[in-house]
Formats: sequence, C-alpha cells, structure tokens
Amino acid sequence: MVRALLSLGAALLGAAVVLADDIPTCSLDKKCPKEAPCCSQYNQCGVGAFCLGGCDPRMSYSLDSCVPAPVCEDKVYKMDSLDRYKDISEYLGDPKTADWVGQGEPLVYKDNILLTMPPKSVGTVLATTTYMWYGKVKARMKTSRGAGVVTAFILFSDVKDEIDYEFVGVDLQTAQTNYYFQGIPDYNNSGNITVKGDTYDEFHDYEIEWTPDEIKWLVDGKVGRTKKRSETWNSTMNQWDYPQTPSRVQISIWPGGSEKNAKGTVDWAGGLIDWDSDEIKHFGYYFATFSEVTVECYKTDSPPGTSKGRSYYYNDIRATNDTVVDSNKRTTLKSLLGTGTDMDKGDGTTSGKPSSSSAPVNNIPGGGSTPPNQVPGGGNPNTGSGSGSSGGAPACDASIFTQNCNEDSSGSGADNKNNGARGVDRTLGASAFAVIVGLAGLMLI
Ligand SMILES: *[C@@H]1O[C@H](CO)[C@@H](O)[C@H](O)[C@H]1NC(C)=O
Ligand SMILES: *[C@@H]1O[C@H](CO)[C@@H](O)[C@H](O)[C@H]1NC(C)=O
Ligand SMILES: *[C@@H]1O[C@H](CO)[C@@H](O)[C@H](O)[C@H]1NC(C)=O
Ligand SMILES: *[C@@H]1O[C@H](CO)[C@@H](O)[C@H](O)[C@H]1NC(C)=O
Repeated sequence: MVRALLSLGAALLGAAVVLADDIPTCSLDKKCPKEAPCCSQYNQCGVGAFCLGGCDPRMSYSLDSCVPAPVCEDKVYKMDSLDRYKDISEYLGDPKTADWVGQGEPLVYKDNILLTMPPKSVGTVLATTTYMWYGKVKARMKTSRGAGVVTAFILFSDVKDEIDYEFVGVDLQTAQTNYYFQGIPDYNNSGNITVKGDTYDEFHDYEIEWTPDEIKWLVDGKVGRTKKRSETWNSTMNQWDYPQTPSRVQISIWPGGSEKNAKGTVDWAGGLIDWDSDEIKHFGYYFATFSEVTVECYKTDSPPGTSKGRSYYYNDIRATNDTVVDSNKRTTLKSLLGTGTDMDKGDGTTSGKPSSSSAPVNNIPGGGSTPPNQVPGGGNPNTGSGSGSSGGAPACDASIFTQNCNEDSSGSGADNKNNGARGVDRTLGASAFAVIVGLAGLMLI
C-alpha cells in the first residue's frame, strides 16, 4: 500500500536504472528537447534506445519521436537460454532478432533464466520485444527472497498503463497485484492473493487475463482477483481509469529496500536489504527464477486489441485505447543515433558501418560536447567506463551459479561465496549501467 505512490514501472527508475545527472528529464508538462526527443520509461530524454521500448509519446518532443512498437505475437518463451536476449545497447527494434531486451545480469541455470541482483547492484529487468494489446500472459516462476528484495512480473505500456504481480521477499505466501492507468497512483488499486505453499521454493503459474472489460489475476489456474473496467469510471476526467494500451511483459528483480529509496518503498519492501545475507553468501546474489512465459494475444478483428499489422503507434496524446493505431509502420532503427522521425540516422557511410569518427558528438544539432543519450539509464558515452564487454548480457551457459559470467565461472555455488565484491561496477549511485554503454562503439551496427 505505502508504495502505491509509485507505479512499479516508475519505481524501477531507482532500480534497474541509475540516473545520470546530465540527462534531461521529461514529464507531461516538460517534453523532451528536439535534440534528445525521446522520453524513456524512466522519464529521461535521449535518442536510440530511448525511442524504442518504453518511449512515452506523451512526454516526448512529438508523438512520432518514439519508434512504433512491434505488435503482439502468440509465443511460448522457454526460459532456458539467453540466445534470444539482447542488452538494450545491442537492440535496434527488430523483434526477429530478440525476444527479450534488458539490463542487468540475467543468466542461465539448469534450464531456467535467473534474474540476478549481485551485492549493491540495482538488479535485472527484462522486457519482451513485442507488445500485448489485451490478451493473456502467464509466467512460471519462483520469486526471490529476503528483506527489501522485490520480484515483479508486470505488463507495462509506453504510456505507463500497468498490470502487476509483485512479490516482496519477506512474504513468500502473497502475490501482490495492482494496476495503474497512465501511471496515476491510486491507493485503492492493489489487492493480495494468497499463494499456497511458498513462492521462493516452488514454481507457481502467475497469470494475467486482460480484456477491454476486465482483468483477472490467476495463480496456478485459479482466479485470485478480478477487476472490471466498469468499476473504474473517473467522472472528473470522463474516462475509464483502466489499463488499455499495448504493453510489454516485464520481469525483474530490484532493490525496493535500497537505502536510496523513499521510506515508504523500503517499508513496503520489508526493510533495508542485507547485502551480507545468507543468500548472498551462498549464491553471490539474490535471484528470481523464470521457467516459461506464455503470451496469447487478444483475438479480435477490430480495434481495440488487434495485432494484424506490424506495429502500434499513438495518434493522439490522450493515449487511450481509441488512439492506438495498429499499422504497418517500421519498427527498426539503423543505429542507436536514430529516432522515430529519423530512423536511418547513422547509416551514412558506404560500408553501412560508420567509422568511429562519425561518432555522435558532432552529429547532434546544437550539441555541445555531450551527445544525447542513447540507452535509457546509460551514462554519457564519453564518461562511460568503456569497459565494454562487462556490460553486455552475461553470456553464460552456466550449469553452475556464477555471479559475473564475464569472469571466471569455474566456481561452484559454494565456491562463489567470496565473490560478493564482483558486482561492484554496478554499485548503486555509481554510473552502474554506464558500462553497458561503451556506446561510441556499440551504436555502430
Ligand atoms: C479510494 O477508496 C476510498 C474508500 O472507498 C474512497 O473514499 C476514495 O475516493 C478512493 N480514492 C480514489 C482515488 O478513488
Ligand atoms: C498485501 O499484503 C502485504 C503484506 O505482504 C500488506 O502489507 C498489504 O497491506 C496488503 N495489501 C492489501 C491491499 O491487502
Ligand atoms: C480522476 O482522475 C484524476 C486525474 O488523474 C485523479 O486525480 C482522481 O483521483 C481520479 N478520481 C477518481 C475517483 O479516481
Ligand atoms: C476503448 O475504446 C472504446 C472506444 O473509444 C471505448 O468505448 C472503451 O470504453 C475503451 N476501453 C477502455 C478500457 O477504456
């Protein structure tokens, strides 16, 4: 309840992403500037990845700054490899190239994907590359545990409509559910479902059935909560305060109990995180386990809720379901210099591979020495640690627990107990994810 001030998508702001001070922020009242036109899920302005998944057209320079969003696809995502995962710094908007994009440290362990949160880190978040405009989504998963450790499985739209499952690591018998219309907080929207057994030790199926008329949350096939659109009329605004726009599936682990968070959030998450817990000593990180995610698109011939074309975009800033267009517009950028209105930017040379001398700095209209940001949560390419490889998705096929797949993975779980310091380049407050942006190089595809 206390955390209801922040929608989860917004809460992740302080979690999977570390804000760089020099990045312009955006809101409904303050749209992004022309040279960094795209407003990310975390309300920061930039180009490239900022204009892809999560780009909020209402807060961007113009409605078409954001790149159209790939339409829904029926799919069973077997979470047993990272072959179909890309770090957001490597993704240009083609869902054929990846099922999931994200930030942090996912890894494979025994035919499951673990989302990990190493000591002092900000966790891991993955999002599907396609958007669901109503439909069903089910995740077979085990939560993390421990005070302050939060696991989430949510639907999140670019205009911040949201339908949630959230789990706090001090209560392994409860699935907390919630929903938001355009990110507007409402203390009355949450509800709990009791889970038989234990959310950490056992796999359970958590499901969201979302139609234009109601949302059902099901645990292990049993309806635990229903919310009808008819109960959400807002007579002041003359609209349904009901999630209604195409949404990505997002799964994450994040430090709700970080000392950097507001007290309400920390309390809700069960207190401050113990970075020296048994869990950390034993495994080297907190983690949540995903076995399978299934998406079934809503079946309808006429909007709202179609998935006939290639992409969705918004034709009006109200961003209600009647403003979503199911279209054949392109969804891909040529490079991370591009935006919705200049999708081929960065494709200027004969080789198709711009030399590093065509790096962004001088290509930015009105730009000084600081190029616009290209990866949400990423730092300035000029100040990024540039340790390149350490930023990518850990390419682990670990049959053992490893904390940082780019380093030696020879330890067994037990041997890893002293490796707690490895996550240091992702410490809170440092430019944690700046490392993902060895950008000057990465944007050259
Ligand atoms: C929440 O519920 C209370 C009690 O039913 C009601 O008085 C209040 O107006 C509701 N708040 C919103 C924002 O709907
Ligand atoms: C849900 O359960 C948590 C404890 O896990 C509690 O703090 C919260 O108030 C409950 N929310 C509702 C809506 O009952
Ligand atoms: C209606 O919407 C306004 C603006 O978002 C909000 O402040 C208000 O609480 C809503 N009213 C209800 C009853 O939900
Ligand atoms: C979706 O749009 C239609 C047409 O504008 C409207 O009648 C309906 O209430 C909307 N649904 C929701 C959930 O807002």
